[in-house]
Amino acid sequence: MANIIDGKAVSAKVKEEIAKETAAIKAKYGISIGLAVVIVGDDPASRIYVNNKKKACETVGFTSYEYALSADTTQEELLQLIDKLNKDDNVNGILVQLPLPKHLDEKAVINSISPEKDVDAFHPVNVGKIMIGEYSFLPCTPAGIMELIASTGVDIKGKECVVVGRSNIVGKPMSMLLLHKSGTVTICHSKTNDLAEHCRKADILVVAVGVPKLVTGDMIKDDAVVIDVGMNRLENGKLCGDVDFDSAKEKASFITPVPGGVGPMTIAMLMKNTLTAAKIKQGIE
Ligand code: GUN
Repeated sequence: MANIIDGKAVSAKVKEEIAKETAAIKAKYGISIGLAVVIVGDDPASRIYVNNKKKACETVGFTSYEYALSADTTQEELLQLIDKLNKDDNVNGILVQLPLPKHLDEKAVINSISPEKDVDAFHPVNVGKIMIGEYSFLPCTPAGIMELIASTGVDIKGKECVVVGRSNIVGKPMSMLLLHKSGTVTICHSKTNDLAEHCRKADILVVAVGVPKLVTGDMIKDDAVVIDVGMNRLENGKLCGDVDFDSAKEKASFITPVPGGVGPMTIAMLMKNTLTAAKIKQGIE
């Protein structure tokens, strides 16, 4: 029976550290740390995420600036807002909640955010820095997963790490972070020939594909660390991950639940990136 990794507890600890550091910076330099959150349209899931990000800002002592724009906002209007935020000294981090309405060019919007304020680490400059291992900002979900793995005490060095999913936000950067820690990394995806065979080799298995219960207990090696990034809503309204938790927990040594695993970590790492942005701007080590 696996140990359940408590994402809420690890995230609370990370936020507590950030709050302490933020208070110390405020006291020493007399500055406030600010995160601008931009949401376009009224997607209910995005609204919940944005509210949670604002709440986390409050918890750690940041000022949050919300820009809630109507669904018919033009590309030019959005780019103008980002230009203004890029130049605003009170704003250390800029987050544009994705997905954007279809008529907007997401890539152009991401590219317009100043890399120094890109706390999602989505800008190509920051993505490139991750590739060469010289980064200021880590992408929030993979960075949160690294903290969760660290919390288990399992050393990544030399381990077979299998990442299922190759998205720009999770799969690809996740693989790089595991590689930087000297894991032996395999990336699987929807065209992989024998997914089960690859998964069964994993000492550390990270699943981020958005397919409910794709990975079952029979695909998991004894005592593996299993990280489930999935957040799927079933027809009965319940949330479930990409891993079949009940069968997987019988094989794994550590496993994340859904909800309460990876999710809370993503926001904690966003706060960490915003703090990092403020420290770099202020010249603090
Ligand atoms: N939408 C879903 N996940 C994310 C994220 O990590 N950052 C942003 N900006 N939008 C998202």
